[in-house]
Amino acid sequence: MLKDKVVLITGASQGLGRALALAYAKEGASIVVNARREEALRPVVEEIEGSGAEVLAVAADVSESVDVERLVDAAVEQFGRVDVLVNNAGLLGPRVAIEEYPEGEWRRVIDANLTGIFLVSKAAIPHIPQGGSIINVVSGVSVEGRAEWGAYSVSKFGVEGLNQILAAELEERGVRVNAVDPGGMRTDMRASAYPEEDPMTKITPEENTEVFLYLASDDSRDVTGERFKAQDFRKA
Ligand SMILES: NC(=O)c1ccc[n+]([C@@H]2O[C@H](COP(=O)([O-])OP(=O)(O)OC[C@H]3O[C@@H](n4cnc5c(N)ncnc54)[C@H](OP(=O)(O)O)[C@@H]3O)[C@@H](O)[C@H]2O)c1
Repeated sequence: MLKDKVVLITGASQGLGRALALAYAKEGASIVVNARREEALRPVVEEIEGSGAEVLAVAADVSESVDVERLVDAAVEQFGRVDVLVNNAGLLGPRVAIEEYPEGEWRRVIDANLTGIFLVSKAAIPHIPQGGSIINVVSGVSVEGRAEWGAYSVSKFGVEGLNQILAAELEERGVRVNAVDPGGMRTDMRASAYPEEDPMTKITPEENTEVFLYLASDDSRDVTGERFKAQDFRKA
């Protein structure tokens, strides 16, 4: 289904990003995986290679423009273009009230979750051909502010806006831009956000890839500026 497509996924060493990298590879795409920690990317690279797909790993911090340029340059040097960009990398940050929120943590979370998507999109757009797709990962707290979700929630509200701006700017070029709220999944981030919860009550990211496959495929060619809930799409 995705043969001949080049997919770049940020934050792909674990959790949702890893599951998406493996799912796209299984559909025949060439994959660029990114995360900050190089050693955490190695097992993902081995799994993708095992499935027969081509893969490039680039350790880079999406909140640093120098890193982001190196990431996109390496992807383009290896594969010539980026057909699908999945802006998935994210940080939870502290779950405390605003009056206790450390300023440094606030800036770190906004930098990674919001400025990171700005930087990666800005660098990648010149290399996304007509028919390309950008997928921005959002959250339930990106449309509803809840107590003690601080910079994470605010950064995701920003991503919702950036998603709409990018969709409007890129429509004429035939590049679609959509947001996906994956809903609660059994990942490290979810476990940090809800330490009391039994992780087995949540689906795995591997069970939650359907809408992401749809948005990468030509079936969604005319869909832009939308917001999907991955787990509703899965049931539909
Ligand atoms: N899990 C849920 O229930 C849930 C619900 C709603 C939305 N989401 C969203 O889904 C996405 C994936 O979440 P997840 O649960 O899979 O998270 P996760 O398990 O914590 O994985 C996050 C990934 O992002 C990478 N990363 C973090 N900061 C980065 C940076 N500055 N630059 C590059 N890579 C970075 C991490 O690797 P390194 O540490 O090596 O950089 C890791 O690969 C996030 O956008 C999250 O907000 C998740």
